Amino acid sequence: MYLLEAVGLSKVYGREGRGFTPALQRVAAVNHLSLRLKPHENLGLVGESGSGKSTLARLLLGLERPSSGRVLYQGTDFTAWSLSEMRRIRDKLQVVFQNSLASFNPMFTVEQIIGEPLRNYGMGNARVRRERVAETLELVGLEGRYMYRYPHELSGGQQQRIGIARAIALRPELIICDEPFSSLDASLRMQMTNLLQELKAQLGLAYIFITHDLSVVSRFCDRVAVMQQGQIVEEQSGVGLMKQAVHPYTKRLIASVPVQDPRLRKTEDRK
Ligand SMILES: Nc1ncnc2c1ncn2[C@@H]1O[C@H](COP(=O)(O)OP(=O)(O)O)[C@@H](O)[C@H]1O
Ligand SMILES: [Mg+2]
Repeated sequence: MYLLEAVGLSKVYGREGRGFTPALQRVAAVNHLSLRLKPHENLGLVGESGSGKSTLARLLLGLERPSSGRVLYQGTDFTAWSLSEMRRIRDKLQVVFQNSLASFNPMFTVEQIIGEPLRNYGMGNARVRRERVAETLELVGLEGRYMYRYPHELSGGQQQRIGIARAIALRPELIICDEPFSSLDASLRMQMTNLLQELKAQLGLAYIFITHDLSVVSRFCDRVAVMQQGQIVEEQSGVGLMKQAVHPYTKRLIASVPVQDPRLRKTEDRK
């Protein structure tokens, strides 16, 4: 059975004009898109800015309702569920954003931030939750003393580690990472990608990894889907994307990114 499945998914923004209210321009941010994700799979999602990646992420997480189409988690259609009904599977589907700091309550300590989903979910008592927070901090490579710090006291990399810790606190099955390391420098990006790789092995996670970093995708992802104007225009294996891109848009996308690993460069580029 698939872990997550999207069938003919669309999301149209904007509204029809009515009386004196002018119509907003309608944008099909996601346009009849279908995809399937297996348990423990790591799917990369690339595409230029505005191609609908973040909208797709929100639909797949049940944070927004599609205009049409369906989303299924382990075969269960949750398209029509309300946000409160989504609680049934919220512990299984988590997200890491590009700017974790912006999503943290600035009044919360690290312990409270990572503990928040545990409290919302009514997990154990305060002692049990504190233990889970400590274990989770260790999993993301931070010492226990960070529990008492405030997020604005931490570096960008540490803030993203806390964002990851919050996402794994409930031990989910899927994490959607929406450009999680875009604001970090290249060596830190590598470290963080390795961390996700380790967490996958330890916790049996699946990822949907949205990024502009094609060299990370080719190393980290089993499969890559390329989005353009709300649709998936190409799918390749992670390594295959750089070597055998077919769609002209994908070729342009690859050409626009400096490739660090020369082995991944196409032969004609080497001349
Ligand atoms: N809440 C919204 N209201 C109106 N338009 C939106 C909204 N969210 C996204 N869009 C539009 O949908 C398109 C896709 O956006 P987005 O999903 O953010 O793309 P990406 O993450 O690939 O950059 C863009 O044209 C964007 O302007
Ligand atoms: Mg986006």
